Amino acid sequence: MRLSRYFMPVLKETPAEAQIVSHRFMLRAGMIKQTAAGIYSWLPLGLKVLRNIENIVHEEQAKAGHIPILMSTLQPADLWRESGRYDDYGEEMLRVQDRHGRDMLYGPTNEEAVTDIFRSHVNSYKDLPLTLYQIQWKFRDEIRPRFGVMRGREFLMKDGYTFDLSKEDALHAYNRHLVSYLRSYERMGLKAIPMRADGGPIGGDYTHEFLVLADTGESEVFYDSEVTDLSFGDREVDFDNVAECEAVLQEFTSRYARTDETHDEDLFNSVPEERRRTARGIEVGQIFYFGTKYSESMGATVVNADQKQVPVHMGSHGIGVSRLLGAIIEASHDDKGIIWPEGVTPFHVGIVNLKQGDDEADAACEALYKAFQKAGLDPLYDDRKERAGGKFATMDLIGLPWRITVGPRGLKNGVVELTSRKTGESEEVTPEEAIARVIAIYAAL
Ligand SMILES: Nc1ncnc2c1ncn2[C@@H]1O[C@H](COP(=O)(O)OP(=O)(O)O)[C@@H](O)[C@H]1O
Ligand SMILES: [Mg+2]
Repeated sequence: MRLSRYFMPVLKETPAEAQIVSHRFMLRAGMIKQTAAGIYSWLPLGLKVLRNIENIVHEEQAKAGHIPILMSTLQPADLWRESGRYDDYGEEMLRVQDRHGRDMLYGPTNEEAVTDIFRSHVNSYKDLPLTLYQIQWKFRDEIRPRFGVMRGREFLMKDGYTFDLSKEDALHAYNRHLVSYLRSYERMGLKAIPMRADGGPIGGDYTHEFLVLADTGESEVFYDSEVTDLSFGDREVDFDNVAECEAVLQEFTSRYARTDETHDEDLFNSVPEERRRTARGIEVGQIFYFGTKYSESMGATVVNADQKQVPVHMGSHGIGVSRLLGAIIEASHDDKGIIWPEGVTPFHVGIVNLKQGDDEADAACEALYKAFQKAGLDPLYDDRKERAGGKFATMDLIGLPWRITVGPRGLKNGVVELTSRKTGESEEVTPEEAIARVIAIYAAL
């Protein structure tokens, strides 16, 4: 993309309504535009990152053997009357009527809808296990939408639903989700710590939230500092191997790590004092096994090996896709702007022409631009007739991990400047070297 032809409405002023850094930078970088309280339109730069996050989620779900679907955003109220949640859900549910006076709602979550799909088409234990998931917009009429995409009313969620014959199988599905989530967050450049969460009215021990540590997080968290040393890395996992997935769960959840909702002071005090930490965190996902709650009330049964009808064991597993943009920025920025992790960056590399209109500088930038495109990378070329200071400020704000600066003076010596957004360090290298270095960095992801 050439910046002169792009649509990236950067703001000079800091918007007064934005209270936290991620919201400020998303508005200033022209990534989102508020439509109404807690409801946003995604502008090109924001949409690119959103899509990158979605792609990582899809790829990791595919590896785990989970199957994508796309359910409707509007749902009939009758489905929710079957589960008993239509009345329970309260004011967060956006309720509408169609022209025939039928009660409908904009889905805040999809347990009922997916259970209806399941019961319509699956009858035998032989068709299990099954995990269906989607990445779809949700609406929750939050009383206090705030912090931009972090707590929106309309937000994008990955929601996966597991169907199994037994509790044991359902817990394997739970563990598969834990593994796939660990991988997904790491690919986004995040450390998200699974913490024991509250099962709510359904109860049960089988729920973990994934939290990114950040001062602006809405949850108070308590943990053993050893959990922050854990990382999944690039190890291979056989998702069909029950013991292997269970071992990952043990590795990542055996140390103390809880949100305020489940915090237990006595247990916490058994952690050696020097390792006890209290902090704040952003919930970027949750996994949850809840048994037969929906399958019983909605009649989602299968015939087992003894020819008996039994309700299936279910779980729901969510990732806050749109919230993740905010979480990543909270975890990775400086005074000047965003610092995108390479796994989600909207463009792989920025090219800054210090003297637009200078034949040699223009030609060198064009050559770089084309070389990156040929390599399958997505460069952003700042080809505007602007002062260098303004160009650098824009690049710093939008946070591309690598910047190549091209000017007549460097070109006389056959070099350009390659700069890391994260460290701020610059190196003079030949254009060929700059291309090779950037290509190698992304090839290694
Ligand atoms: N209002 C919201 N705005 C943005 N993301 C949200 C919102 N509510 C939930 N999410 C994201 O969706 C994920 C799954 O939702 P869920 O666990 O059902 O939400 P909650 O814990 O808020 O009830 C959460 O972990 C969070 O990352
Ligand atoms: Mg949750």
